[in-house]
Amino acid sequence: MEIGVWKGGSAAFMGVEIFNSGKKLRYDAIDCFAPTREFGKFTEDIYEETKANLKPLTDLGVVNLIKFALNPSRKSFSRLSFASS
Ligand SMILES: C[S@@+](CC[C@H](N)C(=O)[O-])C[C@H]1O[C@@H](n2cnc3c(N)ncnc32)[C@H](O)[C@@H]1O
Repeated sequence: MEIGVWKGGSAAFMGVEIFNSGKKLRYDAIDCFAPTREFGKFTEDIYEETKANLKPLTDLGVVNLIKFALNPSRKSFSRLSFASS
């Protein structure tokens, strides 16, 4: 899982490695895709751009792109089902 996917650079790298490994793994790639301040500038919503960048890997089912704004609270994390209760 990656939280904060941006334009998908790391997700693409990991997705290719997962695919080449032949293992049955899924890489959950999460980002709020809301305008935020990144690398010193405010960004636009880049969801469509990231979706296009990762399309070959999402089509293969290796990368699962999720538009979601995480709130650093237990409730938010448990909604994604990766926090133990
Ligand atoms: C520095 S970029 C990540 C770079 C990316 N990991 C890479 O390897 O190219 C940080 C990302 O975190 C996302 N982000 C910031 N706060 C977030 C939140 N609360 N929930 C989800 N994504 C968030 C931003 O939208 C941004 O795309």
